[in-house]
Amino acid sequence: MKLLVILSLAAACHCSTSKHGRRFPDDFLFGTATAAYQVEGAWNKDGKGENIWDHMTHTNPTVIRDQSNGDIAADSYHNYKRDIEMMRELGLDAYRFSMSWTRILPSGMANEVNPAGIEFYNNFINEMLKYNITPLVTLYHWDMPQKLQELGGLANPLFTGWFEDYARVIFENFGDRVKMFITFNEPREICYQGYGADLKAPILNSTAVGTYLCAKNLVMAHARAYHLYDKEFRATQGGQCGITISVNWFGPVTDSAEDAVAAEIKKQGEWGLYAHPIFSSEGGFPKELSQRIAEKSAAQGYRRSRLPEFSEEEKAFIRGASDFFGVNHYTAKLISATKFKKPVPVPSFLDDMDVGEFIPDRWMSAASEWLKLAPNSLYNALTYLKEKYNNPVFYITENGWSTFKDRGLHDYDRIIYYRASMESVLKCLDDGVNLKGYMAWSLMDNFEWMQGYVERFGLYQVDFSDPARTRTPRKSAFVYKHIVKHRYVDYEYLPESMTMTIDDGH
Ligand code: NOJ
Repeated sequence: MKLLVILSLAAACHCSTSKHGRRFPDDFLFGTATAAYQVEGAWNKDGKGENIWDHMTHTNPTVIRDQSNGDIAADSYHNYKRDIEMMRELGLDAYRFSMSWTRILPSGMANEVNPAGIEFYNNFINEMLKYNITPLVTLYHWDMPQKLQELGGLANPLFTGWFEDYARVIFENFGDRVKMFITFNEPREICYQGYGADLKAPILNSTAVGTYLCAKNLVMAHARAYHLYDKEFRATQGGQCGITISVNWFGPVTDSAEDAVAAEIKKQGEWGLYAHPIFSSEGGFPKELSQRIAEKSAAQGYRRSRLPEFSEEEKAFIRGASDFFGVNHYTAKLISATKFKKPVPVPSFLDDMDVGEFIPDRWMSAASEWLKLAPNSLYNALTYLKEKYNNPVFYITENGWSTFKDRGLHDYDRIIYYRASMESVLKCLDDGVNLKGYMAWSLMDNFEWMQGYVERFGLYQVDFSDPARTRTPRKSAFVYKHIVKHRYVDYEYLPESMTMTIDDGH
């Protein structure tokens, strides 16, 4: 009831602006996104090798909230034609998905390519192209080959070569048809959550150096894949290669100068660590953050900074090495220099940033405890990035809202969230942000990492108790479809029935 009231209030405020005049350009790419481990299943079928999520969920199941895993997930490996039918129902221009490294290279190294893996992705891509749906392919969405993890994974500098070899296999096999490649999804979640903490596989919890070692090797691996594409594939394939970074908004909690500095450090730690070396004109890690880590390291008795630096040659190699900036945006926090601090390990990445975080109660909450609807957060983040990095081409490669698994199909809060995002996107376009597309997370419910199947992000609900993994559109699916089709946000629209059809042209 409360949600319905909010929904009609939102309708009252905005319909006149969006319905008439403020439209998304016809060539703006609307899509949805997923990732291999979260949807594919078939974890050991047809020659696929083990990755770190297979390994962790099988050997250490209690780290997952409902002790589940991605062994079957939404079974997209077998249901991919239905997935494409859903894309057609929604009228999508594009679909972002990731390739499973060990489905293609079972051991992680490029000496042995799995033909069944290549065939699966060929079938998938060809079926999408039949319906004019543009594939956006992520090479690495968190599913490190277990064999490479045993050699250190992203903590080993040789990783950069293993990744380049894997990228070559992808470009060679799919680059004739795939024109948009994303090397890594969310370096911060990979490096901080996986290496610097125990919040994602491989739960290394190396708080002092894990995040930073990974950051350097990841950025370097990205640059190697980019240059490989640029030198050996771009001329014949004519596509693009970029990276996706999670950019949530961190504003100062007060107008004080200290809080402004704290919010800036937080931005540098959360995303600047990965974006600055690639997108800034000076290159390398962000200055203030590097300085702070160096000072803390010295005070803590380390012989050198816990943050490894780049050589001048490496800086030059990495700077500018991306055709676009993929942004995953979800939420915001307000940052304080002195207040709201929680105990953190010392030394650690969190202690290095040393800021407090505040979330106002009035921001609507999703099922995920970190996810709030913060006013204008997408707009704030993108306009900040535009100024900071000289307005590169942007794609929003993820944005979405979670509900609990028993919520069902009437997801009014998700509708409110998506409409708010659309308003931000329109404002960004008005302000000249070079934004070319938007991918909603997610096409369907899937394995939400440590939260298992408790939190659901899908426009389509998936019945995980049904062996067929039946997919059913939620209300938000109809609303998103309406936006994609008409290219504006109609606040009065809600579906009359819940029957989904494929419209003409798709
Ligand atoms: C970003 C990640 O890329 C995706 O895998 C995850 O499911 C969503 N955030 C929601 O948490």
